[in-house]
Amino acid sequence: MKVSAIIPGAGRGERFGKPVNKVLWVVAGKPVLAHTLSVFEKCRAVSEVVLVVGEQEIETADEIVRRFGFTKVSAIVPGGKCRQDSVANGLKRVTGEIVVIHDAARPLVTCEIIERSIEEAARTGACIAAVPVIDTIKCVEDGVVGETLDRCNLYAVQTPQTFRTDLIVSAHDRARADGVYATDDAALVERLGIKVTIVPGSYDNIKMTTPEDLDLVAVKLGVCSEKLALFRTGLGYDVHRLVEGRRLFLGGVEIQFDKGLAGHSDADVVLHAIADACLGAAALGDIGRHFPDTDPQYKDVSSLKLLECVGKMLVAEGWRVINVDAVVVCERPKIAPYVPLMIERIAGALCTDPACISVKGTTTEGLGFTGRGEGIGCYAIAALANRND
Ligand code: CTP
Ligand code: MG
Repeated sequence: MKVSAIIPGAGRGERFGKPVNKVLWVVAGKPVLAHTLSVFEKCRAVSEVVLVVGEQEIETADEIVRRFGFTKVSAIVPGGKCRQDSVANGLKRVTGEIVVIHDAARPLVTCEIIERSIEEAARTGACIAAVPVIDTIKCVEDGVVGETLDRCNLYAVQTPQTFRTDLIVSAHDRARADGVYATDDAALVERLGIKVTIVPGSYDNIKMTTPEDLDLVAVKLGVCSEKLALFRTGLGYDVHRLVEGRRLFLGGVEIQFDKGLAGHSDADVVLHAIADACLGAAALGDIGRHFPDTDPQYKDVSSLKLLECVGKMLVAEGWRVINVDAVVVCERPKIAPYVPLMIERIAGALCTDPACISVKGTTTEGLGFTGRGEGIGCYAIAALANRND
């Protein structure tokens, strides 16, 4: 059974009050949209994602999808005036038998909630994630309480809302024909007299709506919440021999020097050590395993390309780089003038903030193979975080 997802992110985020659409706002190192897409990327039950964004944001969304290496996004389509129009546009591109509709503005959804809703929709045809309301709810008119509702029967409804595709397509067709607009997709199914069931959502699965929501979402997604974040560190070490007749690349930057490092790729020891540190932290093996030096496609390849691939592997597994620190061990050349550019390139390849990357050089006071100028070595350490769910 093929499962598709539609992620509507084509609103304007007016209540959020920022100069850009709230789903593009960067929280805990990446745009809200990227956090939401990461959960779907990780969720094995979903095989296709149709992203809906404002016409003028398609290019930005495409850049985010490529930068973070989201492999499941099959289409990025323009949204409509109302959320319902945006979802209807997404529905045209869905190819699965089940469709999960989830707001881009709810980055705290989990794989468990999504999978629960898929299982339920496969059984019942239509279900929504919801949580019992905590507060007592009253109907108020002109500032005066009318009725106090019985809280036992009240649920706050969230997304994902998951349906058999034929069912939600006909519900949207009927709504359009009848000129009906609703604030969620389930309401369109309900009006056809079809039963919609609920599955447990989560109180964390909030829809980012006002600026106050930002702090909560940042804490839950970010490094400040030790309870929610899983931390790992990794170590990398690499050495290459200095030889005549090769260009010298360190940290993704070409350095003017009379020798270069020998190797199958461009032999950039700094990037190799960093890549190994990152792979090690995520327990994803090492660069030798992913990019074997017996493979001709890696002959003289720029190691920045390899580090970019590593960055994408991390994203695919939900990892975020907290920091990287590297020590380049070489007598000559002096690397300090090149460090700012190295940092920029490393951060770019790992899709992270340059402020999280550090590269420094040291000599060994003439001792050993580095001291004699026979080779260059590099040690690197990386810390990564993931969601602990
Ligand atoms: N949405 C959409 N197309 C619209 C309106 C909303 O795809 N025409 C999306 C939003 O991007 C969001 C989700 O539907 O992911 C829920 O909508 P809401 O929270 O209301 O977001 P906005 O409409 O962007 O916010 P506001 O109402 O404050 O402007
Ligand atoms: Mg809105």
